Amino acid sequence: MSIETYSPQVHGIFDKATWTVTYVVHQGPGTACAIIDSVLDYDPKSGRTSHASADQVMDYVRTHNLRTEWILETHAHADHLSAAAYLQGHLGGKTAIGDHITAVQEVFKGVFNLEPAFACDGSQFDHLFADGEAIEVGAMRGQTLFVPGHTPACVAYRFGDAVFVGDTMFMPDVGSARCDFPGGNAHQLYASIQKILSLPAQTRLFMCHDYPPTGRQIAFETTVAAQRAHNIHTHEGISEDQFVAMRTSRDATLAMPVLLLPAVQVNIRAGQFPPAQDNGVRYLKIPLNAL
Ligand SMILES: [Fe+2]
Repeated sequence: MSIETYSPQVHGIFDKATWTVTYVVHQGPGTACAIIDSVLDYDPKSGRTSHASADQVMDYVRTHNLRTEWILETHAHADHLSAAAYLQGHLGGKTAIGDHITAVQEVFKGVFNLEPAFACDGSQFDHLFADGEAIEVGAMRGQTLFVPGHTPACVAYRFGDAVFVGDTMFMPDVGSARCDFPGGNAHQLYASIQKILSLPAQTRLFMCHDYPPTGRQIAFETTVAAQRAHNIHTHEGISEDQFVAMRTSRDATLAMPVLLLPAVQVNIRAGQFPPAQDNGVRYLKIPLNAL
């Protein structure tokens, strides 16, 4: 099955607490699936994790008798914790992310002064995808697209006419992802968005988040054609310089995400928690005045 000639089934599960969409991509009941960008619920007030969002994903997979082959991340998210480890424990499959995650691990190993045994080689994941690398999910053949800018390690995943764009673009009336996290770069994001918008016009694009303007229902599927015509930050005719100026001034006004510190510490470990201390408890750290 060549990459452009099929149209997979895509099921999105929206997490209200973090505005994140988890996707299950497959070819119908009884087939193989990939899960993309799962969410582990986390209460920053109590430090407790829970599984309501991930259990919805699991229910969908089991109800449709899907065989989980991959549990994918588009990047090390800063706004939610990944449920990859939890889902893998229940459903199997291999975890994966883009191969530039190693650069993100280097940065945050320093920021959090992580244990010396923490390896910055991506080995916490079962696989690291290079730009353009093929990905097989049952009979579906897909491809990884390196799309840095929001982070230096972002990837998108393409299966047939469906592309999971991660944090590059949002819905046309929302725009684009911020570029002010460590290693972010608005010039790179512009190029990454152009890479996605060079795909065929009817390509279905699936957003990692939705932050709808007042009065609009949550939505997370659009097309290359709609983005080229209507995206408020990146429609046709907006130059790289215009985009970078807009992105830079807008990012200067944005607060850090509430879950940035806990999320990054878990997500660079493929959804595993840090090792337990000698009292048996696992801790997340808060670096003071370091970010
Ligand atoms: Fe993100």
